[in-house]
Amino acid sequence: MGSYAIIGGTGLTQLEGLDIIDAQFIDTPYGEPSANIMRGRYAGQDVLFLARHGHPHRIPPHQVNYRANLWALRHAGADKIIAVNAVGGISCAMQTGHFCIPDQIIDYTSGREHTFYAGDLDHVTHVDFSYPYDQTLRLKLIKAVSSLGFSCTNQGVYGCTQGPRLETVAEVTRMERDGCDIVGMTGMPETVLARELGLAYASLALVVNPAAGKAQGVITISQIEQAVVEGMAKVKQILSNLLSA
Ligand code: HPA
Repeated sequence: MGSYAIIGGTGLTQLEGLDIIDAQFIDTPYGEPSANIMRGRYAGQDVLFLARHGHPHRIPPHQVNYRANLWALRHAGADKIIAVNAVGGISCAMQTGHFCIPDQIIDYTSGREHTFYAGDLDHVTHVDFSYPYDQTLRLKLIKAVSSLGFSCTNQGVYGCTQGPRLETVAEVTRMERDGCDIVGMTGMPETVLARELGLAYASLALVVNPAAGKAQGVITISQIEQAVVEGMAKVKQILSNLLSA
């Protein structure tokens, strides 16, 4: 049986409390991952940790080498991935500080390396992606968040934009019409690459700002940063709860 891996996003470039065994640099056929993969013990389990944006945070969402990250995690022994994503809130319940465990995703990104099957034209594989997130992992996340009493919506549609800029009000209005509840920049192609590699994958999304047009005024970075700091403390409790269950 493989290990859990945690992909930390904005505000989670290292996992305090991870009793580190080693830091592995894994070169992959797709280039270098965002950072060394940290292997250690956390809440009584073998756990792998990767900082999506590098450690320290330096790689913007559109330049993350998602293929290398996923390939390296599998190579290191992961079979279950919990991705932590900071997002903007679109639907009413998605207030700053709220959690969402999405069950669907819409891809608005462009120009990213989004498949492991790009070069092999003889064996093009069309993976089923009807249900992009692993239900067993989702239920574990839902249980962990609810047992800690944090406000959380147990389903939702994650709209993934290209970034690095934030959206216009019209774009968010369109995404809302499309059914999106939250908006972020890192859910794709990470989610589908996990599926192509046969890894179970779920997202713990933390709302760090109202999406464009969903509150008075413009979105400020200081507002996001404060929400990230407060929310990531809760994220660590959730991960610890899940892994020790
Ligand atoms: N839009 C896109 N990505 C984000 C946002 C947002 O409002 N907040 C955090 N990540």
